[in-house]
Parts: sequence; structure tokens; C-alpha cells
Amino acid sequence: MKTIIKQDINLAKEFLLQGEIIGIPTETVYGLAGNAFNTASLATIFSVKNRPVFDPLIVHTHSLEGVLPLVTHISEKAKILMEHLSPGPITFLLPKSGLIPELVTAGSDLVAIRIPSHPLTLELLKTLPFPLAAPSANPFGYISPTTAHHVFDQLQGKIPYILDGGRSDIGIESTIIGFEDASTPTIYRLGGIALEKITELIGNVHVLSCSTSNPKTPGQLKSHYAPSKPFILGNISNLLVQNGHKKCAVLSFQTHFPGIDHQLQLATDGFLTTAARNLFAHMRTLDQAPIEVILAEYLPCEGLGLAINDRLSRAAAKSS
Ligand code: TXA
Ligand code: MG
Repeated sequence: MKTIIKQDINLAKEFLLQGEIIGIPTETVYGLAGNAFNTASLATIFSVKNRPVFDPLIVHTHSLEGVLPLVTHISEKAKILMEHLSPGPITFLLPKSGLIPELVTAGSDLVAIRIPSHPLTLELLKTLPFPLAAPSANPFGYISPTTAHHVFDQLQGKIPYILDGGRSDIGIESTIIGFEDASTPTIYRLGGIALEKITELIGNVHVLSCSTSNPKTPGQLKSHYAPSKPFILGNISNLLVQNGHKKCAVLSFQTHFPGIDHQLQLATDGFLTTAARNLFAHMRTLDQAPIEVILAEYLPCEGLGLAINDRLSRAAAKSS
């Protein structure tokens, strides 16, 4: 199969109407999208991504009107967040309606729903007669793609089309929040919306930390977002001494390390939003460099720093 990359929404629509799955841009990361109501399309998503079927998919729609038929209830706090933060990098776990196939939710009564803000994809969703199920467009366990070319590099030949919407502006996946406890909602995955913004709007939330022990808890697989080279987190100067015998690459927040050939800074301007935007692209670049190990450091624990640190520690989990 030949994989085309274009900015043509009509072509994207044609493929999706035929039941094909395609790459789509979102403001967080690129998605691997198919008709959320079509079981054959859903099955293709799982097989192309090599994803276990117990790991459910996020359903993307264009507006609150698009969400309503997909769920049976939206709790007060979910409504407040939706009004203020959607379209945007936040995913809501809500009780599913009968329209949602079992395969989307892996048998759960809750469906994950997101209204993405990327203009091309929002436009596409408005013209389609169905919502789009889409996981991040990377092979299962690898780094999420933030450009059409990242998707092409890993999925060429497996999908017919990638809608090119440029570089993802946020750069890390959406924040996932559930409302099973209506008074204190749970953040299942830290992501593109800073925690502070959520608590400002709805008060306290539980934040689930990652675990390796129960792969059935969605979004909680610890070894995730992983480069193929060993990825070690800590104090970079110390790590450089300890790994002096190896060819090291460095991924730092702002600091330049003299004498290191393969190094990237996440944010020379010091902004955590810049760091998030660069994170996955930089991890990919260093992973492809002729080096043996990537040394990295945690970022400040505030704003998007929490979600970035979560991705860094998951990337490192494979090596520890
Ligand atoms: O930013 C994003 O959320 C991107 C873009 C493409 O929208 N999507 C994304 O999808 O990151 P994915 O599949 O890579 O990650 C979605 C996470 C998974 O860890 C999955 O287990 C969890 O959401 N999830 C999906 N449906 C769920 C459900 N019904 N209950 C609990 N967790 C769910
Ligand atoms: Mg993913």
C-alpha cells in the first residue's frame, strides 16, 4: 500500500468513509483514526498499531453536540471542564451510550471522549457522519508522533493516507480525567492541560501515578513512550561520568554540555510549554543518532512539567 501525505481534508474524508484508517493531526500528537462505529475499522487500528485489544481507544468528536449521543450522562464537573477546556488537550471518561462498540472501550462502561482543537481535524470531524476512534499513531510502546513525517516513518505502507497538519502545537498527549467519584475526579493520565488549571476550575482531584503491575488499568503501562536506546534519568553531569565509556547523547532542559556531539535542549527559553512541544521529536532524533545511551533529566514539577516528567520516567522504565 502506498502512503500519501497531503493537507487535503476531502481526501481524508473519502478514505474514512470507505472504512480505511488514516493518520490525523491533533494539537497533542498525531492520531491513527478510523470510524468509531465501524468494527472492521477499529480492528484495523489495533492491528496496524500492534496494540492489545484490552487497551481502549479515545473517541474524537467536534463539539458538545457531538458528545451528547455518545454518552448517557455528563456530571457537573465534567461540564465545567468541557466548557472551559474543550476543544483542547483533555479527554473525558464518561458513561457510554449504546452507540459505542465494545471494541472501543475494551468492555468498559466508560468511553474516553475528546474534542481536539487542531483546525484541520476539527473541520474533518464536522464533515463526517461519525466520530473518529484514534490512538496515538505510533507502534504500541514507542514514542508518540508529533509530525506527519514521524507517522510516515513508522507506518508507511500500512495506511493509505496521512493528513498533514504541521507540527503538533502542544506535543504531549491529552490529560485523561474520570468522574466516577463525582466530588473528587481522577486524573488517569497527566497531559496537555496543566493540573493547576484543572484544580482552579473544579477543586481537588486524585492523580493516579503509573504502575507496572496491572496492564488492565488503561493508560498506566509504565514502559511506554520508550525510545529503542537505553534512556537514563538523573543528574546529567554525574551520568556523563558514570557512562564515560559509552557514546552518550544528552537530552537536557536548558543546559548545554560542552564536548557532547549529540545533545538537544528541550527549551532554551525555559518555558515548559516549549519543552512539551519538543519532547517527543527530540527523543526520536537522539534515538536515531549513532549513540549507545540517552541521558536525560527531570524538569521542574509544575505546569506541564508534571506530564513531561511522567513521559520521561516511562521512557526510562524500559531501561531500569
Ligand atoms: O492526545 C491524545 O489523547 C491522543 C490524540 C491522538 O488524541 N490520543 C492518545 O491515545 O494518546 P492513546 O490510545 O495513545 O492513549 C489513550 C489512553 C490509553 O492509555 C487508553 O488506555 C486510555 O486512554 N483509555 C481510552 N479509553 C479508555 C476508557 N474507556 N477507560 C479508561 N482509559 C481509557
Ligand atoms: Mg499512545
